[in-house]
Amino acid sequence: MFRAVLTSRLQAAFTAAGIALPEGFAVSVVIASDTRFGDYQSNAAMTLGKQLKTNPRALAEQIKAALQVDDLCEKITVEGPGFLNLTLSATALGQKLGVIVKDAYLGVLQVEKSQRIVVDFSAPNIAKPMHVGHIRSTFIGDCLARIARFIGHTVITDNHIGDWGTQFGMILHGWKTILDHAALEKDPIHELVRVYKNVNAQTKADEAVLTTCRSELVKLQQGDAENLDIWKRCVALSLDQLRTIYAKLDVHFDHFLGESHFNDQLAPLVENLLTSGIAEISDSATCVFFRDVPELADKPCLIRKSDGGFLYATTDLATIDHRINAWKADEIWYVVGAPQELHFRQLFQVAKKRGQTTVMRHIAFGSILGQDGKMFKTRSGESVGLLEVLDEAVERAAVVVAEREGFSDDEKAQIAQVIGTGAVKYAELSQHRMTDYKFSWDKMLALQGNTAPYLINAYVRTRSIFRKLDGEVTLTPVLTITEPAERALAIKLAQFAETTHDVLVDHRPNLLAGYLYELADTYHSFYEACNVLRAEGAVRNTRLTLCDATSRVLKTGLGLLGIQTTERM
Ligand code: ARG
Repeated sequence: MFRAVLTSRLQAAFTAAGIALPEGFAVSVVIASDTRFGDYQSNAAMTLGKQLKTNPRALAEQIKAALQVDDLCEKITVEGPGFLNLTLSATALGQKLGVIVKDAYLGVLQVEKSQRIVVDFSAPNIAKPMHVGHIRSTFIGDCLARIARFIGHTVITDNHIGDWGTQFGMILHGWKTILDHAALEKDPIHELVRVYKNVNAQTKADEAVLTTCRSELVKLQQGDAENLDIWKRCVALSLDQLRTIYAKLDVHFDHFLGESHFNDQLAPLVENLLTSGIAEISDSATCVFFRDVPELADKPCLIRKSDGGFLYATTDLATIDHRINAWKADEIWYVVGAPQELHFRQLFQVAKKRGQTTVMRHIAFGSILGQDGKMFKTRSGESVGLLEVLDEAVERAAVVVAEREGFSDDEKAQIAQVIGTGAVKYAELSQHRMTDYKFSWDKMLALQGNTAPYLINAYVRTRSIFRKLDGEVTLTPVLTITEPAERALAIKLAQFAETTHDVLVDHRPNLLAGYLYELADTYHSFYEACNVLRAEGAVRNTRLTLCDATSRVLKTGLGLLGIQTTERM
């Protein structure tokens, strides 16, 4: 990784120049935003100059003189108030690319300290409509899990399904009165949601229905055999269907430990928190207060209601215990929408009081909006289900693919599947996770612009070159880079390594998406400027190797976003 090597060289240059770095001063090197002055840039001299009250430009010159990068750079310059600009040499780039094409990880380094990371994502609620929040969580969580695994962490994915809760009071009553068994057979999630919505509406109009639902729920919680049986069937049917959806999406979980899995642990957990003095009884409910945390001082975490019922937070605390004790988690990542921010802040504070040192992160995200800027709805005006979105995306992609010639119907269906699903995922992952983005079919399915179809097509174009070649291709171990377009592409390819690691600094898949888009663009410019197939000898080999590396980085990078590719389209 160029950035890492240059950083350590720069650090060494300070020592060599006899400049002591103050405690905690981090020498940083970044990818240059304006490549006219160099490929990498550091403002270390400027920041340090300010701290030491010395002339930053003179300091930069001093470091430049001590900097040993002959094997990597062909030019070092000091610009403006004291920026150090570094330009890589063609030789270093050529060697690096030779290494990258042979590496299964394409130059991406494995982390020095591998962590056991639990990624908690997707987590829809049984018998309640799955909303866009679950869609975003599914795509972001899956992508982060893939990247963490790729760079060498041990990742455990867990789907904390909402399979226990007050909604079951309504479902039980609805099951016994208005269930359409044929519809349940066909599309269980849809039918359960219909039943839930119908009974929910009834409860609003009729107090008596609400009372019935409550008593059904109490019976369930007390272990009534009939109600338990119905509940089990609801969960099993929904899980079956969810598994089909996840398979279509190519999203995988190591565990589906839903909320109900922790029922037996809740009572002892609350007792334990009371005896250890972490929780207290307040107004006959059990709470954990955070009197020493100013922003939570008036926001206690409720863990047992006065009627004895447990809450979402109680289950989450028991879940943390399991993840730490059974799975030895070093980190837990919760990929859950921004509205649950307070819940997680409280949860992490309770964990802290319990002395749990596992790193816990709430990886939040905003909403998806419709074209009208309001909450996103389907064609029928319902709130959006994941399945509907996917089906519509594939349908729309199929319309585009239908015009193509030279493909069988099966191939066309396969391509539409890849493009449609990829388009929906990419529309999500190319956004900063905190923005409320507008959902637009036309934009996400466009063949031009920052879209999945554009990137998949770029991959297809890199592959088509190799199909046109007769005979074997020998990729070259050391590339001879001369043309500016070759150079630009080589640097971009080498920066896959940095980008992949950068995604996990702040959990931002959009950094990888943005990188892949730039790579595809750089590749197209290269392809226009440099003829590959008509070139000869070392030039041809170099260019073919660049094409091969581009195709592998695109495929691997899209794969890390959870997006598949196709060889032709
Ligand atoms: N089922 C929850 C919801 O739909 C999300 C669960 C997130 N994970 C967790 N451990 N709380 O809001």
